[in-house]
Amino acid sequence: MSYVPFYDPAKSYLDNFEHGPFGLFADTSPASPTSEPKHQFLGHPVFVPFGIPAGPLINGRFVKAALDMGFDIPVYKTVRTHRFECHPWPNVLAVKVEGDLVPDRTLIANHNYAEPLSITNSFGVPSFGPEFWQPDMAEAAAYAGPGQVVVGSFQGTLPENGSVASYLEDFVLGARLVKETGVKIIEVNLSCPNEGTANLLCFDIQRSRRVVEAIKDEIGSVPLVIKMAYYKDDHRLEEFVREVGKTVDGISAINTISAEILDEDGKQALPGAGRLRSGVCGSAVKWAGLAMASRLARLRGELGMKFAIVGVGGVGNAAAFDEYRRAGADAVMSATAAMWNPRLAEEIKGQSHEL
Ligand SMILES: Cc1cc2nc3c(=O)[nH]c(=O)nc-3n(C[C@H](O)[C@H](O)[C@H](O)COP(=O)(O)O)c2cc1C
Repeated sequence: MSYVPFYDPAKSYLDNFEHGPFGLFADTSPASPTSEPKHQFLGHPVFVPFGIPAGPLINGRFVKAALDMGFDIPVYKTVRTHRFECHPWPNVLAVKVEGDLVPDRTLIANHNYAEPLSITNSFGVPSFGPEFWQPDMAEAAAYAGPGQVVVGSFQGTLPENGSVASYLEDFVLGARLVKETGVKIIEVNLSCPNEGTANLLCFDIQRSRRVVEAIKDEIGSVPLVIKMAYYKDDHRLEEFVREVGKTVDGISAINTISAEILDEDGKQALPGAGRLRSGVCGSAVKWAGLAMASRLARLRGELGMKFAIVGVGGVGNAAAFDEYRRAGADAVMSATAAMWNPRLAEEIKGQSHEL
C-alpha cells in the first residue's frame, strides 16, 4: 500500500468529512485534456469509462479531487431525504480472506491494510440533510470537465411508523431532490435493507420494480442507474432483469458481500447492535462482480434490452479493468482499491488494452 488513503479509516466519519480528502487527493488541480473523449457513458462523452462508485466520495471536495485525478465517472455518495447518523467508529477494517469470498463466511478483521486488499465497510449510509447536500452535489456536478460526468446516488428510508407506501414516497422525493441538483445521471441504491424485511431491496423483485417505475416517472429523461447486489440464482436474476431492465438505463453491480466480522479474539469487531455481519469489498469480491457483469451482458442480449452495465468489485489495476470490459461492462468502477491508490485512473489510462 504505497499511498495514503483519501478516506482515512483511522479517523471518524465526521473528521474525514470536515478535513478530507487526504493524501494525493488533498491537493489536486483540474486536468487539462489535450484530446477529445472517445467513449460514451449513458449519452455523455468520457475519456475513460472508469470511476469511483457510491460511498468513498463523501462530499463535493472528494468528488472534485476524483475528477482532478482522472476518475471520469465519480459517484457522489448515497444520500437520503433527511439527516441520518453514521454508525460509530470504526467504519472500515481490513479483513483476511483466503481466495474468493462467498456469502456468509466468518472473517477476522484488524487495522493492517495489506495486499491483496479486502475490507469491510460499515457506515449505515449516513446523510446530511438536503439543505447541505443539494448545493454541494450541484457544485460537484458542475465541476466536471469535458469528458467527465458526475453521478448522484440516493436511497429511500422508511419513515418512523411509516408504511410501504411512505417508503416508496421517500424514494420519489429523494429522486426529485437529486434531480434538482442538476446531476446528469441518477443512481438509486437498491442494495440497501428492504425496510420491514430482513433482506435487501434488490432481492424483492416486485418492490424493486415499483420503486424504479415510480422514480423514472419522477425524473423523466435523466438516466437512472440501479445499484444491486450479487444474485446467486440465475433464474431469479433473469426475472429481476425482465421486471426492471426496460425501465432503467443502467445496472451497477455489485455492492458488498455480507460476512460475520470478528476481531482477533473472536469477538464482534464492529461495536453495536446489528453490526456482527457487515459488507465486504475489495479484492475478494472481484469474482462476483465479474460474474455479474457477464451474466447481465448475456441477459441484456437475450432479452433485447439496452441498459448500460457498470462493473464494480475488486478492481485494483488496469488488467482488472480490462477483464470487466471484456465481460461486457460499459463502465467500470473501483471503491476499495481507489481509496488506497489515487493514481488508479491514470494507471488505467496508461496501461489498459481495452480503451
Ligand atoms: C467506504 C465505502 C463506502 C461505501 N458506501 C456505499 C454507499 O453509500 N452506497 C452504495 O451503493 N455502495 C457503497 N459502497 C459499496 C461500493 O460502491 C462498491 O459497490 C463495493 O465497495 C465494491 O467495490 P470495491 O470492491 O471496488 O470496493 C461503499 C464502499 C466503500 C468502500
